[in-house]
Amino acid sequence: MEEELIRKLKSIVGEDWVVSSKDSVAGYLYDETPPPLRPKACEDVVVVKPGNAEQVSEILKIANEHRIPVFPRGGGTGLAGAAVPTEKGIILSMERMNEITVDVENLIAEAGAGATLKDLIDAADKAGLSFPLHPGDEGAQIGGLIACNAGGARAVKTGVMRNYVKGIEVVLPTGEIIKLGGKLLKNNLGYDLMHLIIGSEGTLGVITKAWIRLQPRELASATIIIPFEEREKALAFVPKIFQEGVLPLAIEYVERNLVQKVADKLGLTWPCSSAEYQLMIILSESSEEALLSVSEKLLELCEKLGALEPVIAQTRKEQEEVLKIRSEIYSTLKPNMVDILDTTVPPANMVKLIETVNEIESEFNVYIPTYGHAGDGNLHLHLMKWDGWTEEKYDEVRARIYRKAVELGGTITGEHGVGCVRRKYLEQFLDAKSLSLMKEIKKIFDPNNILNPGKVLP
Ligand code: LAC
Ligand code: ZN
Repeated sequence: MEEELIRKLKSIVGEDWVVSSKDSVAGYLYDETPPPLRPKACEDVVVVKPGNAEQVSEILKIANEHRIPVFPRGGGTGLAGAAVPTEKGIILSMERMNEITVDVENLIAEAGAGATLKDLIDAADKAGLSFPLHPGDEGAQIGGLIACNAGGARAVKTGVMRNYVKGIEVVLPTGEIIKLGGKLLKNNLGYDLMHLIIGSEGTLGVITKAWIRLQPRELASATIIIPFEEREKALAFVPKIFQEGVLPLAIEYVERNLVQKVADKLGLTWPCSSAEYQLMIILSESSEEALLSVSEKLLELCEKLGALEPVIAQTRKEQEEVLKIRSEIYSTLKPNMVDILDTTVPPANMVKLIETVNEIESEFNVYIPTYGHAGDGNLHLHLMKWDGWTEEKYDEVRARIYRKAVELGGTITGEHGVGCVRRKYLEQFLDAKSLSLMKEIKKIFDPNNILNPGKVLP
């Protein structure tokens, strides 16, 4: 990196907050994307850690003027390579901008982009409120969670990140600082630029601050695990839950061999071992009475539809352990993984998608480990390191699953986004007009293509 640039960056953020030695940038090059899939990072980068939006603006003005690529970075927990610096440039780490305050009267948290998910959960808790969503790793940062419109397990009842964000402060690639929305529950003043930035994976602007809706704490919760003899039966159960008028916080699908492996690794116990295919349902209600009534409805449904005997985890500890085991499936599979898909279909169409997956498994004689956010129709299907498999064969299987998902009214990514790894599929799975509108939008926001170049758009 040129001395001149480093000197300028230091004059903006201070000596201590610019690092460029090989060792000190090493931790900023990759995210959680499986190594066989992730793009190669350029190591000729400088990491800058701004302390406020004005500094971000100064940095972007310089980058824009000199056409230097800028790669915004949060907690590095993404799964599509969106934060990987694929060219020589500046990594903009938001880690110092981590302040959170809670406006209890308006049930809104004001969070810096670098605050972590854990910081947000703790701040809400301290204020006597809650942030019900659990969009992934707790080391993820607010800016990244919003930029990637993160989902996670507890999105069934109240939606994904987008549904909680009420305002953002953004620095545009050309350096202007704008505020979109705020502590507002309604806002119809023109096009909704905030929702355009949400999910844009760091390609349209750098989020520096956010106003996030919190909720009153729900006082009663239970986790019910329902086993099934077949994948199809487990997934066919999901829409019935909604039709019964039960709206859980989470409906996760898991497979026994996977949770067993994680439980062994963590030294914990998965409470249900009677069948391979299972739904893990988190109920969360405002009172014990409400919880009891909803649980009863669910248990009656199990009986009516011929599920096997459900297991109920009720203590806080048991429930936390179950969620912990569920949350660690990805990291447990990762060393032997080639790709994690996050195809999403209308929930009632999951059965058809899984039929295709079952067919592929028997045709190629492989096991495709499957789990995911069944309540959202969002399944994680894993392509593993299978003996003798070539890239072409992986491509063929991936394409078959993608085609099926889209044919069923779904999308190739409902959660992890495009980043680098799915860019090549946009032309295939997005209509030409939508894609050209997206490209035009990118040009308007970032005329010199300096912000997270090489991501999202082909
Ligand atoms: C999960 C991540 C991989 O659901 O999205 O565990
Ligand atoms: Zn997921």
